[in-house]
Amino acid sequence: MKTFTTRRSLQQYLQQIKTLNKTIGFVPTLGALHQGHLSLIEFAQQQNDVIVCSIFVNPSQFNDPKDLEKYPRTIEADIKMLEQVNCDILFNPEVNEMYDGNEQWHLNIGETEHLLEGEFRPGHYQGVTQVVNKLFGIVNPDTAYFGQKDYQQFLIISKMVNMLNMPVKLVMCPIKRETNGLAMSSRNIHLTPGDRQHALVLSKTLNWLSNNFNQNNIPALKKEAEQMINAEPGVELDYFEIADGDTLHPANDSTKSIVALVAAKVGKTRLIDNILLSPKS
Ligand code: PAJ
Repeated sequence: MKTFTTRRSLQQYLQQIKTLNKTIGFVPTLGALHQGHLSLIEFAQQQNDVIVCSIFVNPSQFNDPKDLEKYPRTIEADIKMLEQVNCDILFNPEVNEMYDGNEQWHLNIGETEHLLEGEFRPGHYQGVTQVVNKLFGIVNPDTAYFGQKDYQQFLIISKMVNMLNMPVKLVMCPIKRETNGLAMSSRNIHLTPGDRQHALVLSKTLNWLSNNFNQNNIPALKKEAEQMINAEPGVELDYFEIADGDTLHPANDSTKSIVALVAAKVGKTRLIDNILLSPKS
């Protein structure tokens, strides 16, 4: 695997690849890699000649400085994992390589930015669009791969790509879970053994909802799901929403694309999860 830490050196190398008419698949990450990240690389490998993975803990998307400081950084283990799955290129820049002093960025992506995660992490999606825009500019990928795990992030990046006419195709890949159902996340490192048990209520509730979606109306299902999560010790619910998959507004019984999304603090760690639901029959 080739590793680049400067934009210029990566761009020069990728230009050569482009002249050979090879396609580039891109997987941006914050590092602390797990099987979920690796599954995106595998999807990318099936559809492209050359795979670029970026590892960059992007300060501008952390609204809480303590969260940024605490974010796991495991670059040596990450490199080993990327080599094991035959990733071609790693881009691993320092903050000052990506940002030139106090850069200003604001993209008007509409109200989706302020719903759900946006309400609990103000400014988060401005930071995400800022860095993804930069990374797309540097890598210039044919296709970029993101996880359904961050469903709202995928919606917002899709919106940016449309608004700015970016020449990149986006692919959303399914959520990788541990065998007990816990959605894989870099933040799971912070969970105590007790937290890990309590955290299962999130995926269990989403599965329960999926299995019982036709049994009741949406407001009643939402209430029951909230009660299930609130009954779990050590879990503090931020939101549980059964939403329109395009707008993230609350769904109703005639909504076509439906997603249930949850965010909760489990012990000291904030986790998110979601599930796509078939429209009511
Ligand atoms: P990060 O949280 O490292 O996630 C990188 C990519 O991996 C995202 O597209 C995320 O949705 C996906 N991912 C995380 N957990 C997953 C799982 N269990 N199954 C499948 N995919 C999973 O998301 C970010 O980084 C950043 O916001 C980024 C886009 C890199 C911009 O800084």
